[in-house]
Amino acid sequence: MGKKLSLEDQPWCIDKATGKLVINKGVENVCIDKSTICYIDGFHSKLYYRGYSIEELAQKSTYEEVVYLLLYDKLPNKRELTDFSGWMSEERDIPREIDELLCRMPRDVEPMEVLRTATSYLGNLDPGRHDTSRDGMFRKTIRLVAKIPTIIAHWHRIRNNQPVVDPDPRLAHAENFLYMMHCEKPDQLSAKAMDVSFILLAEHEMNASAFTAVVIASTLSDYYSAIVGAIGALRGPLHGYANVAAMRQFEEIGSPDNVEKWYKENILTGKKRVMGAGHRVYKTYDPRAKIFRDYARQFADKVGGKVKDFYEIASKLEDFVMRELCEARNICTNCDFWSGIVYYAMNIPIDLYCTLFVASRTIGWSAHILEYIADNRIIRPRLYYDGEIDKEYIPIEKR
Ligand code: CMC
Repeated sequence: MGKKLSLEDQPWCIDKATGKLVINKGVENVCIDKSTICYIDGFHSKLYYRGYSIEELAQKSTYEEVVYLLLYDKLPNKRELTDFSGWMSEERDIPREIDELLCRMPRDVEPMEVLRTATSYLGNLDPGRHDTSRDGMFRKTIRLVAKIPTIIAHWHRIRNNQPVVDPDPRLAHAENFLYMMHCEKPDQLSAKAMDVSFILLAEHEMNASAFTAVVIASTLSDYYSAIVGAIGALRGPLHGYANVAAMRQFEEIGSPDNVEKWYKENILTGKKRVMGAGHRVYKTYDPRAKIFRDYARQFADKVGGKVKDFYEIASKLEDFVMRELCEARNICTNCDFWSGIVYYAMNIPIDLYCTLFVASRTIGWSAHILEYIADNRIIRPRLYYDGEIDKEYIPIEKR
């Protein structure tokens, strides 16, 4: 038998006002730094990047401009945007070694695992990987933001035994991604929707993946390690993989007529969670979900078929969520509920959806890394030790 510690032995766990043990499980509502990157007003469905509302950016901006905004903390003028877009497009090619790596990967490896490995390897191949100057960090950020869509598109084609498609520098970032996926230029609606998706998912304050990136960067580890860690965090179904899980859920439901039965059997019984619903910060509707839903509706009307089926299943399920979970418990549908239907309409396979999230979010992670390390302090939280100490060590033969 050992000795239990008292609360007084661990003063870092005591709330000064009440004198009681305080544990912020899930690091909920713990503010770790000041920031000028992103503001989420979870009570009024608002999201801002560098002070600009997501609705306005989705409507009027482009992904290239949003990348510039997040990185430089200002909107570019015409000349700056042209130069910057040119820089991004010049960086789209991936080294031959990455294609060779993709060719060697077993075809059934999860796309997020492929992307994680390829990103890490891309770091090995970057001669400036240890350059921690501000310029060096910007260069690595643009390199990665530009190349990740190429890795995803090449993997998509390689695993389907199709020749890879080189990036087309005449096309905008999102348009070029769809071109590399399908070897044809996308229609206007798809190009715009993909660009909006890139914008909507570019940044989201100190979530699990951004925190992972910043934790790694705060040890003065390297940029690629921080991004690879963030990719690992995003891959969980409670975070970015929810966009894949939401589509699997719609597939499982199968038809709009089955929504009520499925909801009663799975959600009301507590067997499952609605994937693409609930959020730590949003206590009302996720503003990104509204925009994705609108594009999903446009595609459902235009494309019909399975896209329309998915749209109808999702709409009906959303009605239940909003009536029963949102009203009573503030669990509303989020961006991952609707984004998959938009990607599905663009003929993108479901298992790739979380990698699209990475393609957008790498800029947000990078902005947080840069901001945090500019005034760095290693991230080192504490735990409340609930075990015993000074236990008697019993030799193995006597246990
Ligand atoms: N469906 C049903 N019940 C839910 C859901 C849901 N989607 N989300 C939360 N709840 C319930 C949960 O069961 C718990 O109930 P109780 O208090 O009775 O145990 C309560 O709400 C609080 O849940 P929590 O897990 O403590 O809340 P959290 O803030 O820690 O979790 C979340 C947030 C996003 C992990 C959670 O809502 C969830 O699991 N959602 C489904 C996955 C998902 O859509 N994730 C994407 C989030 S948005 C984009 C992104 O960040 O990647």
